[in-house]
Amino acid sequence: MAVVEKPSDLRHLAGLDVQHVIHPLTNLHAHQAQGPIIWDRGEGIDLYDNTGKEYIDAAAGMWNVNVGHGRTELAEVAASQMRRLEYASSFGGASNQPSIELAERVAQLTPGDLNTLFFTAGGSESNDSAFKLARLYWKQRGAPQKRTIIARYMGYHGLTLATTQATGIPRYWEMIEPGVSGFVHVSPPYAYRHGGGLSEDEFVAKLADELEETIIGLGADTVAAFIAEPIMGTGGVIVPPDDYFERIREICDRYDVLMIADEVITGFGRTGTWFAMEHWNTVPDIMTIAKGISSGYVPLGGVILTERVREALYGDPALTFMHGFTYTGHPVACAVGVRNLDIIEREGLVEQAARVGAYLISKLKEVGERHDCVGEVRGRGMMAGMEFVLDRDTRAEAAQSDRLSGKVSRTAFRMGLICRPMPGSDVLAFSPPLIANESDVDRIAEILDEAIAEVASSAE
Ligand SMILES: Cc1ncc(COP(=O)(O)O)c(C=O)c1O
Repeated sequence: MAVVEKPSDLRHLAGLDVQHVIHPLTNLHAHQAQGPIIWDRGEGIDLYDNTGKEYIDAAAGMWNVNVGHGRTELAEVAASQMRRLEYASSFGGASNQPSIELAERVAQLTPGDLNTLFFTAGGSESNDSAFKLARLYWKQRGAPQKRTIIARYMGYHGLTLATTQATGIPRYWEMIEPGVSGFVHVSPPYAYRHGGGLSEDEFVAKLADELEETIIGLGADTVAAFIAEPIMGTGGVIVPPDDYFERIREICDRYDVLMIADEVITGFGRTGTWFAMEHWNTVPDIMTIAKGISSGYVPLGGVILTERVREALYGDPALTFMHGFTYTGHPVACAVGVRNLDIIEREGLVEQAARVGAYLISKLKEVGERHDCVGEVRGRGMMAGMEFVLDRDTRAEAAQSDRLSGKVSRTAFRMGLICRPMPGSDVLAFSPPLIANESDVDRIAEILDEAIAEVASSAE
């Protein structure tokens, strides 16, 4: 094993990284020449690289660092749990106190009767598990042919084999072609691009009809579940029209299709409510979570079941649940999760996300109005997106290789602001830690304004 003798020697570390580490969503060939940025520490909404340069983390890592960076309280809880019990398996019915406490806390917070939780180590594992659970549910109910999962184009559900297929962004499929069977996609509720000329009601009706026709076309007796992010993240921060989920819920019920809400990004306060489905008073049959449950301090996720789904698993004396991971119910991860929820509650971060999030969106709109290349600003709570266009009137889009969101994010990064271009569209996403306040938002908007101006002037 190579020993890093001088950790402060950036070039040395960068060379080791290029040689030994494979990075996700990275052009690995280009990475060999460019090398990595090496993060050193975080504090509040800021990250510092190992040259000491400070950045505002307006992405909260990957939408996940809800309580902000550098919480020693979480480090201490992890250390103390490690000293007592660092790990013990949850297989075969064994348990540990932190996982019991966390599952009970989450059950209290989730809407409706979403009361029973299966722990995972992240979002992809959660969605993969949800698909298996949906199929198991129908098998238990005497309908083993109900296996197909309907997802949406532009949806993102992870990158395991099955969740790559559920993800509705074709760029991700290239690696697994010819792909995994049993997944079908319908249109997203993307009014800015697909709602042209329709009223909100007409647009919702069109989407609902498409889902209904898809279920009928496949045969309702073959469809297990419909999965949706309440607000689509990676696709481009797409907020659905108000009545959308109510109509989708009705169709799922009518055709006996389970509804899975992927709250991996939106859960735990990000959109100004504990869970985003609360905005539309809709309770899914299965909810998947990750990210904000531990604010990224440890890998953690889960799948939450309503009583109806739970009953199919618990009511059968002949069934053994043949699913699980080494890290299911990890005691350290769950102890951190419990304390993370304490912090969110104690500091009123859900309410803060609603208040400061509204301010964030209004500031981004102000910035957008100053630049012709901004087509739309949208979002909910601390989850906002800025969509770039070549022409505001025609909404024409740049080619993938020429997207403004990429250029603006690189320029902003140089200026000390982290915001992320989305792979599904020409959208720059903003999802600051929920601790960000109005003056933090002012700084974000100021740097962004400068970055867009610089990119726009260099294009002239
Ligand atoms: C909505 C959604 N679902 C699932 C995932 C996958 O989570 P993970 O990367 O933890 O596997 C993500 C990741 O960003 C996500 O945004």
